[in-house]
Amino acid sequence: MEKKILFPQVGGFVHGGDYNPEQWLDRPDILEEDVRLMKKAGINSMSVGIFSWSVLEPAEGEFHFEWLEEIIDRLYENGIYTVLATPSGARPAWLDEKYPEARRVNRMGMREHHGGRHNHCMSSPVYREKVAVMDRKLAEKFGSHPGVIMYHISNEFSGECYCDHCVKRFRGYLAEKYDHDIEKLNHAWWTTFWSHRYNNFEQIEPPFVHGETSVMGLNLEWKRFTTWNTNDFMKAEAAVLHSVTPHIPVTANLMRMFGGLDYRKMAPDMDVVSWDNYPTFHNDWETLADTAYETAFQHALMRSLKRGVPFMMMESAPGLVNWQKVNKVKRPGIHRLACLQAVACGSDSVQYFQWRKGRGSYEQFHGAVVDHMGTDDTRIFKEVAEVGELLKRIAPAAGTLVKTKAAMLFDWDNRWAIEDMKALGQETKKYEETCINIWKEFFRLGVDMDIVGSDEDLSPYDVVVAPMLYMLQPGTAANLRAFVERGGQLLATYLLGYVDSEQLCYLGGFPGDGLKELFGIVSEEIDSLYPADRNGIILTDDALRAAGSAISCGNSRGGSLAGGTTECCGGQAEKKADWEVAEYAEILRVQDAQVLGTYADDFYQGSAAVTCKSHGKGNAYYVAARTGAADMRPLFERMLADAGISVRRLPEGVECHVRSGEEDRYEFYLNWTKEAVSVPGVEGRDIVSGAQITDRLELPAYGVAVVCPL
Ligand code: GLA
Ligand code: ZN
Repeated sequence: MEKKILFPQVGGFVHGGDYNPEQWLDRPDILEEDVRLMKKAGINSMSVGIFSWSVLEPAEGEFHFEWLEEIIDRLYENGIYTVLATPSGARPAWLDEKYPEARRVNRMGMREHHGGRHNHCMSSPVYREKVAVMDRKLAEKFGSHPGVIMYHISNEFSGECYCDHCVKRFRGYLAEKYDHDIEKLNHAWWTTFWSHRYNNFEQIEPPFVHGETSVMGLNLEWKRFTTWNTNDFMKAEAAVLHSVTPHIPVTANLMRMFGGLDYRKMAPDMDVVSWDNYPTFHNDWETLADTAYETAFQHALMRSLKRGVPFMMMESAPGLVNWQKVNKVKRPGIHRLACLQAVACGSDSVQYFQWRKGRGSYEQFHGAVVDHMGTDDTRIFKEVAEVGELLKRIAPAAGTLVKTKAAMLFDWDNRWAIEDMKALGQETKKYEETCINIWKEFFRLGVDMDIVGSDEDLSPYDVVVAPMLYMLQPGTAANLRAFVERGGQLLATYLLGYVDSEQLCYLGGFPGDGLKELFGIVSEEIDSLYPADRNGIILTDDALRAAGSAISCGNSRGGSLAGGTTECCGGQAEKKADWEVAEYAEILRVQDAQVLGTYADDFYQGSAAVTCKSHGKGNAYYVAARTGAADMRPLFERMLADAGISVRRLPEGVECHVRSGEEDRYEFYLNWTKEAVSVPGVEGRDIVSGAQITDRLELPAYGVAVVCPL
């Protein structure tokens, strides 16, 4: 595959971050010093203008671009490119004062006061107009500057607005979706229930706290609308920028698995996906390896939003953040690991929030490359400079891609529907956590799964995992069927296919839409277990059982979905079940699937819990209960083996990702443990250290390596 170089000008990876010179305009000495320090830290790009509106336009119609021009010029003269932001993420006071409609209305129907950020109404015509004027001027002024390589639209889009403009647009959106036929909406939302029928679209209100919150269709449609409207706002900004300078790519910085917006709907409208990465390193609830693997999951999600193009890590904290419950500093060496992890997972940038700590206000103690001390003689600065060096050394890897034959299905719609459904255990739904735990287990087997939508093209993949896919999109079932029929290995779990994309239950047994035939099962009941309740699965498939018992104490680590620690069963004299079940157990009727495991306990003891239906070389596996991801490992291994994907188990805490281009290949190794490790089966040249590796790669504590074939 050809390389996809995002920024040929930069000649490698982007290294930079948020820079707020507007906070220092009265300190030219500091602005000069900034550039000297940037060069020393190996910085080649800065993101400017993100919250600069009140300096760019201090009063309505009075524009001041001269300071920005000076900054962009100076950066460019010193070999530093600019990611130019639009300032729509926060508004100047004059704007809110004169145009109150720009301020959001909350779920109680109250208009917010001026202040904060990320709190504008996405529908307000005046706000859109003011933003468009600003964006046009920025593009006209700076779009042809050779230093400007990208536009960064707004900042971290989020939130909802319940103002009259938004309500009107919501009604319009619904009328279009339901062909201006209120009966179609009434049917889709099942509004005859509790006498909630609407006579016309004008009667529909969004789910105010003190209003209608019991119509699931309304709740879901409001979330979809919020994505649609936010994206429409973002597209309007992008359109202005593109109309002036079509050659400059746009991005908007996303926030990992953020629950407020369906990023998959937004990704097509940005040229590059970027995201802000703030893991809670060194916390007291998981191992550092677990934090790292979860971050790898988030990177994989971002990478998969736009397959075939590198993404960007637009923000990360040098040192520490200021908003976590406990703002712990990253231990020496962790910064390098975290930066290289982003690159290993497919990012073509390492960017920080922020370059220099501001003296005052909300983020004055948030980590930055340059501290209040103002020197390059700090631990953090030195670690950043070291990353600058490292990125130069591995520059040829820019533009290469992570390719994988395995994918997990994750849908925002499904997530919202599960959250909102009135069923199961209200506290134990854990859709995201379930996905993450399963993803991590595959990762521990050396498989770096993509994370894609259930109706996306699955042809690049040979293994697909669909945890808790409660809601089926119109194309999902056909997609899964085609995947298995062409020989794919598919695994779905409990909760599959209960509702269609309108949240109407399928009639005639779950899973609906033809999936009963694909899996050869019908799910008749789902049992929710209290926190202390346990059941188990006894594997009736000898090979799976043997593979499971060969894994020593697999249950004791990380895989439990019960929320607590699972006892290690390896050492117990009498093992009751092979897999532990907590929280959910579906009771199945088997049609024509093979039973691989049965329940150990309760009135459904002995009934099917794990099944497989084969279709030629393809297999459709079903696990009907919540078990630890580590329990399921033998099943994952079987699927991978049948798909011809090789398994490679590295020591716990050691990560490997592979990026490749047409002719080059880079194996990234990251050691997140405090111990030195020796990784067998590695050959090539480590372009970080320059060492030739023959067979074993020796990584020191927190060590990294990027190995290329000789
Ligand atoms: C977000 C924002 C930044 C900054 C950081 C702090 O990612 O985009 O402006 O507030 O958080 O961690
Ligand atoms: Zn609004």
